[in-house]
Amino acid sequence: MTVDGKDYRTVWMDGGSVFMIEQNLLPFEFRIIACLNYRETCHAIRTMVIRGAGAIGAAAGYAMAQAAGEAQGTDKLIFLENSRHEIESTRPTARNLFYATERVFQAALVSPANARKEAEEIADEDAAASRRIGELGKTLIPQGAGVATHCNAGWLAFVDYGTALSPIYMSHQDSNKLFVYVDETRPRSQGARLTAWELHNAGIPHAIIPDNATAWYMAQGKIDLVIVGADRIAANGDTANKIGTLEKAIAAKYYNIPFYVAAPTSTFDMNCPDGSHIVIEERDPEEVLYQDGLTIEGKKERILVCSPGSPALNPAFDVTPAGLISGFITEEGISHTVVMQ
Ligand code: MRU
Repeated sequence: MTVDGKDYRTVWMDGGSVFMIEQNLLPFEFRIIACLNYRETCHAIRTMVIRGAGAIGAAAGYAMAQAAGEAQGTDKLIFLENSRHEIESTRPTARNLFYATERVFQAALVSPANARKEAEEIADEDAAASRRIGELGKTLIPQGAGVATHCNAGWLAFVDYGTALSPIYMSHQDSNKLFVYVDETRPRSQGARLTAWELHNAGIPHAIIPDNATAWYMAQGKIDLVIVGADRIAANGDTANKIGTLEKAIAAKYYNIPFYVAAPTSTFDMNCPDGSHIVIEERDPEEVLYQDGLTIEGKKERILVCSPGSPALNPAFDVTPAGLISGFITEEGISHTVVMQ
């Protein structure tokens, strides 16, 4: 994706370092950071410097390749196993992270160079799958449609192109005068900060709406379809995605609005029978209680936005039952029926 006339991927490796866009600073500042070893890459995943299923999958693959390069002496296997465990402990829900560590771990058993090659392949495959999702998914968007999306499943959440936003980008390039309703996505505001920034840069008409306004716009006939991403899709089609997705799916069903999940096949977990087996990450309550932003004078500030002393709960994802999903847009095609009910 192009930023200020320069092409970027969300994450890449050069020498022994992993480079990534510092997403916590967006949309106020665009900065690239370098993770010099696998532990620094783990820290970046845990603290959401990089986030989004495909992006953390690629970062985890690169972290495993860094660990392969760092393993020394006779205890290489133990080092690789421990580092894999450390990488997999950063965030529990996104399938792509585990898909990547498994592949790169196996490759690392051959050689560090082989691990690096495998990590590069995972990143390339992610970008290619996202692009294909856009080409296939754009056929679902009617001319002049109102499209709702939740969280950020754009290029920042993957290596490039994105999933839910990829069909939107491509439809816009085909001169479709669509309009995107961007849920703000409290508490981390991936919609208001990241999706809005991406769409603004691409010149795509959109508006940020409060999280609790989507059903109202559906009721008014403004939303023709919903496209969201996914963090893990169980074998029966139950889908974990950013908290708040479930209520959008319920509202879409009520108003008879198509609700699509766009995800590469690497997000499907065929060893997970249904949504009840998906581990849902609980994040720090401070993310709910405090917000970061810019003052009118342009100074960065962190402020308390809730009643002082009240506790908060912060589940990062929810699970949408397969029955509420109209179809899955993958790089291999669009399934309009539910996978194994
Ligand atoms: O917690 P995050 O920002 O890593 O959440 C992941 C996501 O980006 C969303 O759930 C998204 O809708 C699907 S994954 C690209």
